[in-house]
Amino acid sequence: MQKTVLVTGGTGYIGSHTVVKLIEAGYKNVLFEDFSNSKPKVLERIEQITGVRPAFVQGDVRSLEDLKKVFDNWKIDSVIHFAGKKAVGESEREPLLYFSVNVEGSIVLLNTMKDYGVKEFVFSSSATVYGDPGYDEFDESTPLAPINNYGLSKWMVEEILRATYKADPTWSIALLRYFNPVGAHPSGLIGEDPNGIPNNLMPFIAQVAVGKREKLMVFGNDYPTRDGTGCRDYIHVQDLAEGHIKALEALNSKPQLLTVNLGTGNNTSVLELVKAFEKASGRKINYEIAPRRAGDKAAYWTNPSLALKLLGWKTKFGIDEMCADTWKWQQLNPNGYPD
Ligand code: UFG
Repeated sequence: MQKTVLVTGGTGYIGSHTVVKLIEAGYKNVLFEDFSNSKPKVLERIEQITGVRPAFVQGDVRSLEDLKKVFDNWKIDSVIHFAGKKAVGESEREPLLYFSVNVEGSIVLLNTMKDYGVKEFVFSSSATVYGDPGYDEFDESTPLAPINNYGLSKWMVEEILRATYKADPTWSIALLRYFNPVGAHPSGLIGEDPNGIPNNLMPFIAQVAVGKREKLMVFGNDYPTRDGTGCRDYIHVQDLAEGHIKALEALNSKPQLLTVNLGTGNNTSVLELVKAFEKASGRKINYEIAPRRAGDKAAYWTNPSLALKLLGWKTKFGIDEMCADTWKWQQLNPNGYPD
C-alpha cells in the first residue's frame, strides 16, 4: 500500500531533497510550508525532477487550524518534521522566536498527530545538541549539553519526544542528529538558497566562486587542527535525504524510539573545503584569515556506526561530489530560486 507522508518544511533545503527521494521510493507526500525561508518555485523544481507535483498546504506548524487542513483531507501515515528556524546567531538574539517555532510548533504538531491517531514521527535534530563534550568524535551516547538557543530548542523537542514515547510506546519516533549538510541534487535544480549573507561555509564559498561575494573570511587559523582551521563532518544532502527514507523504513517495521547521528565519520577543514571547491569549480576562492567566530568548536565529527547498524545506512558521497553538486546548483541559480 502506498504510504502518505506529511513533510513539514517540505520546500526547504533538506526537506526538498527528501521529498524527491520519497517520491522516487514510492511514497505519496503532502508538503506543509510557510515559505518563511523557501520559495514556491521549489514545488515546480520537484515536479521537473520527479514528474510528480506533490500535494501542498501553506501554513504555520503552530496553527492547529492550518494543520487540520492536512489531517482532515489526507490519511497521513507518517510525519517528517523539518519545519523550524536554524540560524545559531539569530537564536541568540531572538530566543522566544526559536522556542516558539521549534518547540511550540513541534508540540502543536504532535498533539494534532495524537488527535488523528498518527504515531510515526521523524524529527530533524542536530549535532548542536551535543555542545562541546571535550572530545571530537561524537556518538549517540555523547552527553547532551547545547551551548546556544538553537541547539537548546532541538534538545527540548528531543526530550518531549522521549517523554511521549515513554508514556505511549506505540509511537514510533526517529531522532536524526544531522552534522553539516551541504551539496545539492545532481540536476542542479534544487539546492540551498540562504536568505541574505550566508552564515554557513559552503554556501558562502559557492557565492565567492560565482562572483557574488569578494572573499571568504576564514574564522581562525590557530585551532589545534591539521592546518589550524575548523574541521567539520560535511554530509551530502543526497545522503542525508536517503537517511530519512531508511529511518521511515525502520520505524515502519516496529514501534520504537531511534536516535542516530547522520554524518560521514570524516572531517574536512575550512582550507581543505576551499581547495576542493576550487578544483570542482575551476575558480579561485579568495579568502582572508579573520578572528575566530564565537561559539565555534575546533573540530567534531560523528562516529557513524550506529546509523549503519540500526538503519543499514551509510554515506556514499565525498567532499568532491559535495563541491561539484553545490557548484552546479550555484551556477544554474546564481541568485537562488526566482520569486
Ligand atoms: N566558517 C568560516 N567562514 C564562514 C563560515 C564558516 O571560516 O564564513 C567556518 C566555521 O568557523 C567552522 C566551519 O567553517 O569552522 C563550518 O561553519 P558553518 O557555519 O558552515 O557550520 P557550523 O559547524 O558552525 O554549523 C553547523 C550547522 C548549524 C548547526 C551547527 C552546530 O550549519 O545549523 O553546525 O554546531 F547549528
